[in-house]
Amino acid sequence: MTKDFISKTLLIAVFLVVSGAAMATSKKNNEPAATWAKSKVAQMTMEEKANLLCGSSEYNKLCDELKASGTTTEISRLGIRPMIVSDGPAGLRILTIRPNDVKTYYTTAFPVGTSLASTWDVDLVKEVGEAMGNEVKEYGVDILLGPGMNIQRSPLCGRNFEYYSEDPYVAGNIAAAMINGIQENGVGASLKHFIANNQETNRHSIDEIISERALREIYLRGFEIAVKKSNPWTVMSSYNKVDGYFTSDRKDLLTDILRYEWGFKGFVMSDWWGGTYDNYTKSNVVAQISAGNDLLMPGIDSQREDLMEAMKSGELKMAAVDLSCERILKIVYNSISQNNYAFSNNPDLKAHAELTRKAGAEGMVLLKNDSQALPLSKQNKLALFRVASYKPISGGLGSGDVYEAHIASLDEGLQEAGVALDKSLTDFYTAYLNYPYHDTVDYNYISEKQIAFDDNCLKELAANNDVAVITIGRISAEGLDRKIEDDYNLKDDEQKMIEDVSKHFHAAGKKVVVVLNIGGVIETESWKNKADAILLAWQPGQEVGHSVADVLTGKVNPSGKLTMTFPKKYEDSPAAEYYPGEPANDPQKSYYKEGIFVGYRGFEKEEIEPSYEFGFGMSYTDFSYSDLHLSSKIFTNGITVSVKITNTGKYAGQEVVELYMKAPESSIEKPKKELKGFAKTRLLQPGESQIVSLKLEVKDLASFHSKEEAWIADKGLYQVMLGASSKIIKLQDDFKVSKRIVVEKVHPSFQEATID
Ligand code: BGC
Repeated sequence: MTKDFISKTLLIAVFLVVSGAAMATSKKNNEPAATWAKSKVAQMTMEEKANLLCGSSEYNKLCDELKASGTTTEISRLGIRPMIVSDGPAGLRILTIRPNDVKTYYTTAFPVGTSLASTWDVDLVKEVGEAMGNEVKEYGVDILLGPGMNIQRSPLCGRNFEYYSEDPYVAGNIAAAMINGIQENGVGASLKHFIANNQETNRHSIDEIISERALREIYLRGFEIAVKKSNPWTVMSSYNKVDGYFTSDRKDLLTDILRYEWGFKGFVMSDWWGGTYDNYTKSNVVAQISAGNDLLMPGIDSQREDLMEAMKSGELKMAAVDLSCERILKIVYNSISQNNYAFSNNPDLKAHAELTRKAGAEGMVLLKNDSQALPLSKQNKLALFRVASYKPISGGLGSGDVYEAHIASLDEGLQEAGVALDKSLTDFYTAYLNYPYHDTVDYNYISEKQIAFDDNCLKELAANNDVAVITIGRISAEGLDRKIEDDYNLKDDEQKMIEDVSKHFHAAGKKVVVVLNIGGVIETESWKNKADAILLAWQPGQEVGHSVADVLTGKVNPSGKLTMTFPKKYEDSPAAEYYPGEPANDPQKSYYKEGIFVGYRGFEKEEIEPSYEFGFGMSYTDFSYSDLHLSSKIFTNGITVSVKITNTGKYAGQEVVELYMKAPESSIEKPKKELKGFAKTRLLQPGESQIVSLKLEVKDLASFHSKEEAWIADKGLYQVMLGASSKIIKLQDDFKVSKRIVVEKVHPSFQEATID
């Protein structure tokens, strides 16, 4: 035997041993989820299947400690671990302290959905998703119950703060970025609430009567974009009914559309007690499982019993049961709980606070800035008014709430930024807030009414300061819609304060800035002329004071834009007449009579001037748009639209470029303009330019023709408009579609609702 032969043989032997071991491990670790799930289902008893299809009635220890929202069921006999699921869209919602434990378990309150969407920055939103998902993973949770992306049909929806936009293109793309970020950590997201959970009034039972076209083009479209671009692990069906049936009972929705048309691969879970009746004790489990609502959350005994009975009687097909079990188990297989991930309980909260500060500032929208009132100059002394300045609102209430360690107030943020504040006012508000009585949720609702400053006092404040900053705060919550009076409209004391402060400060030649620390749209028309500048700060998360200070001082140049319309008055909103449904005293049915003309689509159709239009937002600098170029004047396989953006002002800044399109008229009415693309430039220095390119796909051209159950791009001329808002159109061109294109035939769904 030669030396060569021996070493070769040895090498081969080593290779075989190593590769054998590798194969053994890889078989164990990489056994496809589907095979594993199938083999487990084959071994499960009927009772185990019924249990798996319902959330676990018994919390496992960790879920209990976390006070997470729920778990899937453990089947220890088969080595199936429970997965922990917890809210929500603005960050992980878990309990911060545990019995007999000195450690704290805080999480980051990231900016709320509306604030994130207003950045129009998908890369930044993805980064926020990554940070959120990292906290989910490091606290041992498998699935985050978010993002929420229902359409902001009415300014009054109590959960609008969790959602992204009145427009499905914005909502879908922001949601996709968020999900991609979360899931990069190897934990799951739950895209919710599918579908049309657009109001909180009677949310558990309201029947939303919506035409198929409006569903397809507005309410489903955003979910479609999100599902196709991000593959969420799970989707959460909504509480409400659509056209007579609970969404969790609808096969056309949960299977035909979600899975067959869009290719969804995960599992569907119900919202908590979704589809139940008889005081939340019963649900139509046969319809739910047959429809493809795979998991019933949080799981109630009667559902388990009903499932057993229906399986035994044959009313519920075992094939449907097995399919749902497999879908759940495929996700379990990849979950951190199943894989015993050793979570640290120690995510990098400091880094996430920094990111929150950045994202919160980037989502702020400068609505007004007369005579360059902003940014503040270094020497400016500030009179900081209202409780929301000293105790700002980081986010909304309900499952979208987060238990953060600290919320940075505006006085804190401004002082840290070196801005001098009027001490008499900071002392006054600090003392006011120190009364335990005021430490309630509605502190800025009720008790602040008592605070009034008389003329002499305001005169003195105006003499002693350069600028007044008035922060208007609003909080809203899950389960409750907002009111028009004292919520959508300003309260009397707020109006009075804006009026009095501006009277005295303007008389002294000083500026007035209003900061809106709100989660949803409010009325601005009646008072906006009294302020020199208005900064819509939203509810930008726990670093609110720092983010606001960054923008007010010019450290960050505002680049957020509105993802919804601010009407002059509530009644101008296209859905106002029909919201929240009939009968008015206790709505049972909500008729979506505005059809596809939601938000700016409706304002433009009726030619109603808004207070601030969709897509609007100012900067401390200016941008020019030039060199619009279409890759072709005839549409064949997509068109690329490019445009040059140049910073023509004095500050470095970012611009959001919005692409609108008007499709040719045909047998159906079409909106005057619809958003079909957007992009945000990098930070452009004064004088610097960037070419932005946006792609139009064939589906972007299509409208939904209900009679033909198809998405169709009509023949004719398509106008392309590049704008800085839906009204500020800078450049236009057009292209032609020479022949009508049937883009997609869909499954017949939703009998056409009779809503005329
Ligand atoms: C909400 C969901 C939430 C669930 C679990 C429900 O009331 O509608 O958004 O994820 O509770 O907390």
